[in-house]
Amino acid sequence: MNLNSKGVQDLISGIQKGLGNVHSNSEILVFPSTIHLNEVAKAFQGSKVNVGCQNIYPSKLAAFTGETACEQLKDLGIHYVLIGHSERRQFMGETDEFLNKKVLFALEEGMIPMLCIGETLEERESNKTFSVIKRQITEGLKSVSKESITKIVLAYEPVWAIGTGKVATPEQAEEVHAYIRKELVALYNSEIAESISILYGGSVKPDNIKSLLEKPNIDGGLVGGASQKAESYLGLLT
Ligand code: PGA
Repeated sequence: MNLNSKGVQDLISGIQKGLGNVHSNSEILVFPSTIHLNEVAKAFQGSKVNVGCQNIYPSKLAAFTGETACEQLKDLGIHYVLIGHSERRQFMGETDEFLNKKVLFALEEGMIPMLCIGETLEERESNKTFSVIKRQITEGLKSVSKESITKIVLAYEPVWAIGTGKVATPEQAEEVHAYIRKELVALYNSEIAESISILYGGSVKPDNIKSLLEKPNIDGGLVGGASQKAESYLGLLT
């Protein structure tokens, strides 16, 4: 909920101008506010940039005032959705159980859910990081079959690093990513665990993304602040 219409237009045109110089094999996405989805989806149609939504409500078309249905997104050609960003957990009271409903529903609708997980500062300081991550994965992915799990993307975002400028060190992030991978082996198997992308988020910027991506279990970034200016957005695309 950071940009107004002018901010979105500037960002679209800045990214469009610079995209020709981006020679990245990475998948590139942008997740605008819902109100700007149509405009952004049209602007990037047929380009390297895919568009996703920041949230869904787990229901077919029905009376859920203020919410967004997968079918409405698919109408716009949008197939990616963030689920369980820490701000939704923290400020909108979304529980693991509710987020699991969203994951299952999104999969049923043929969408690609990107499930966000991560511990708060308090949890880290009281040595609960791994137990929190384990709970968020186990409950968030409950009843997700072996066939469906490979369609999911996970994003580890320590809450203390989001929007704070306090990036986790590549070693701190890698430690948790390796743990997530290990949990996926236990829940599914090693082949599946290897095939799932685990993104890191929390104060990622053009000048620190490389050292994070060098780690074996960090497969990409989920970026807030630095994705809001075309220059730094493009600077992330290694
Ligand atoms: P940040 O935000 O990159 O500004 O820390 C990350 C996020 O909101 O997911």
